[in-house]
Amino acid sequence: MAKVSIIGAGNVGATAAQRLVEKNLCDVVLLDIVEGLPQGKALDMAHSAHVLGLTNRIIGTNDYTDTAGSDIVIITSGAARKPGMTRDQLVEINAGIVGDVVKKAVAVSDSAILLVVTNPVDVMTYLAIKKSGFAPKRVIGLSGILDSSRLAYLIASELNVPVTDVTAYVWGEHGQQMVVIPRLNTVRGVSITKMLPDDVISALVKRTIGSGAEVVNLLKTSSAYYAPSAAVVRMAEAVLTDSQEVLPCAVYLDGEYGLNDVVCGVPAKLGKGGLEGIVELELTPDENKQLADSAGSIKRMIVDAGMA
Ligand code: NAI
Ligand code: 2OP
Repeated sequence: MAKVSIIGAGNVGATAAQRLVEKNLCDVVLLDIVEGLPQGKALDMAHSAHVLGLTNRIIGTNDYTDTAGSDIVIITSGAARKPGMTRDQLVEINAGIVGDVVKKAVAVSDSAILLVVTNPVDVMTYLAIKKSGFAPKRVIGLSGILDSSRLAYLIASELNVPVTDVTAYVWGEHGQQMVVIPRLNTVRGVSITKMLPDDVISALVKRTIGSGAEVVNLLKTSSAYYAPSAAVVRMAEAVLTDSQEVLPCAVYLDGEYGLNDVVCGVPAKLGKGGLEGIVELELTPDENKQLADSAGSIKRMIVDAGMA
């Protein structure tokens, strides 16, 4: 059976572990620096195997040797934002954690695909590429699947249609400079620009950009984890099943969309090799500028943090 290790047994990591283990697709290893935390959560999940009819295994650990030979390593370790904080304010503390975790994880799983969740995710994905020494196509960040799912929820609520009828696409930075190209968002193939007035679309986009903060402000002591864990598990499943689905993800750009040496959200084809290809859509000059501005903001953070 395939093996997926999750580094960081907090809200996103543990919920992702539960979702993954319940798919019965792979064995799961949950690792954290806090002693007892991953062991306790994993044991609790293992106790559900009989009830749920699962044949895979989950273990919790503080020791990287237990993660050896992983097919996928999901990185959810690090600080989450509190009310009033932006994701970017986490860069210094999380760069130290992600740098250390990546080195330890790849030392024992040199052929894994890395899925990065820790924020600011575009910058942390870039850092994980540098620290791992892996080909960039083997390191992918979680961003657009979550942001698109939030936009899809809002479109479905506004139009009173099933969320499964909505195709939503959010690209660019997982942050204030998310990019939404309204014409590409559809309900059963019909663009929302034909169904909703501009001011309503603008309000939905604004609320999508603020959705993470909306959840933090309600929860107060933690940030979102149900939708984020669902999104990263979707990525892991695409890799494990070699699905070749096109999903918006934070990936390394080497000339695509005219952008270089930066990680930014674009439509990415996922499969067993990780990033199997980037879909380059024809954009208008204005749409291209939005994406370039968004990537520019990520690049500034990378440069300011001394990672480039
Ligand atoms: P959390 O605080 O619940 O969990 C973080 C876990 O990381 C803790 O259990 C902590 O002990 C562990 N940890 C810290 N340093 C570690 C180290 N050196 N080695 C191993 N484990 C370590 O936080 P939560 O809510 O799970 O979020 C995790 C990260 O994911 C945050 O940075 C958050 O902002 C980010 N995030 C990103 C999303 C995205 O769309 N990319 C969505 C949701 C969260
Ligand atoms: C979110 O969007 C905090 O990035 C996380 O909920």
